[in-house]
Amino acid sequence: MDEKLKQVEQKLTEYGQEQLLNEYNRITDEKQKQDFLDSLLTIDYNQVNKLYEKSKEKPIVQKNKIEPIEYVDKARLSKEKYEELSKLGTQKIKDGKLAVVTMAGGQGTRLGHKGPKGTFDLGLDSHKSIFEILTDTLKEARSNYNVDIPWYIMTSDENDEETQKFFEKNNYFGYPKKCVTFFKQGKLPMVSLEGKILIDENHKIKEASDGHGGIFHSMYKEGIVYDMKARGIEWVFIGGVDNVLVKPVDPILIGLAIKQKAVAAGKSLVKANAHEKVGVFCRKNGKPSVIEYTEISNEMAEEKDELGNLKYGESHILCNLFSMKAIDKISQITLPYHIACKKAKYIDENGKLICTDVPNAYKFEAFLFDAFESLDNLSVLRVKREEEFAPVKNASGDDSPETARKLYINYHKSHK
Ligand code: UTP
Repeated sequence: MDEKLKQVEQKLTEYGQEQLLNEYNRITDEKQKQDFLDSLLTIDYNQVNKLYEKSKEKPIVQKNKIEPIEYVDKARLSKEKYEELSKLGTQKIKDGKLAVVTMAGGQGTRLGHKGPKGTFDLGLDSHKSIFEILTDTLKEARSNYNVDIPWYIMTSDENDEETQKFFEKNNYFGYPKKCVTFFKQGKLPMVSLEGKILIDENHKIKEASDGHGGIFHSMYKEGIVYDMKARGIEWVFIGGVDNVLVKPVDPILIGLAIKQKAVAAGKSLVKANAHEKVGVFCRKNGKPSVIEYTEISNEMAEEKDELGNLKYGESHILCNLFSMKAIDKISQITLPYHIACKKAKYIDENGKLICTDVPNAYKFEAFLFDAFESLDNLSVLRVKREEEFAPVKNASGDDSPETARKLYINYHKSHK
């Protein structure tokens, strides 16, 4: 028997994933058979099985010491303080010490747009796509600071080609091509509710992106950290693709981190109400952290400080700044994986395509904000919702193209 096949069989038997051989046996083309075997050899079965086993464990309610975290309100900075921070940040930007990373590897399932989320036409008169809107922020920085800011775009296996083609077709929206680098994020196999690795409709291992927390490992693996260091970058803004009011080049955020001698900084929005379903910045066992709304009690969510502000009222919006030192540190640790039950199309053991309307498979994802706990300090900058946050998440209703478009138009009308 073929040595490779024997090796694969042994592995699959050891980890209880023999069902994958059914697919192998159905393939008739010899080259495809070999490719499939090769792909089976790249899987870390031990990791996948462990992640699945974890999904069955009851979550351990750890006795963490949760405390509020200090924050600075951008809108309430005195003129002197604003100028001081602005000067510190502006210098770094002008010196070419800032890079921007856009995380565009997500699946955008809620929006339901066919194609990468960044290619979505927001419905403005100009018909700008989200990617073009993001490019505008860098072009503006270019003219304000006379510097070409390196822009790294994290894609995934599913959308990398289409994303790159979109930029090519649109001539990088007038931003220098040499300043834009694409890199792919990591992925992990998806498993059935019984923990069996699935086969996708293209008869390959069904894999999904490993979450935005995978960015640190991917930046290392793909040579991005090396490239940033070679360019002398000191600060990296990392944000999602889907906030059309994102301000990735913000001297105040950089200035604040420098002033507070912090290795990272995050922007926050004040929670709309005590029970808004968002994660909030806090200190967990003394370390900066983001706590999910499910993790804090009602009393804690409602607690106010002496000024009447919510003690846990700074919501995390995936607009963060990291020093190279912080990135070096985070990429050495393994972030926890969270399990999510998703609807998945797959080929079952009998070769039948399964499509359902109910979640039928598990996906494993790391979250970027889980990295904060490995850092000693993090500055939090509260910003205004109407100035810096217009997410495109859902097809309709809250956080939809319609709400984001309105916010975008209003902001640009008042900031002409
Ligand atoms: P979301 O958590 O909103 O996920 O991602 P999503 O994939 O865009 O949308 P849904 O949940 O499927 O509807 C927040 C940001 O993180 C990026 C997304 O592209 C978005 O910018 N992201 C998310 C990644 O880059 N990789 C991932 O694996 C997950």
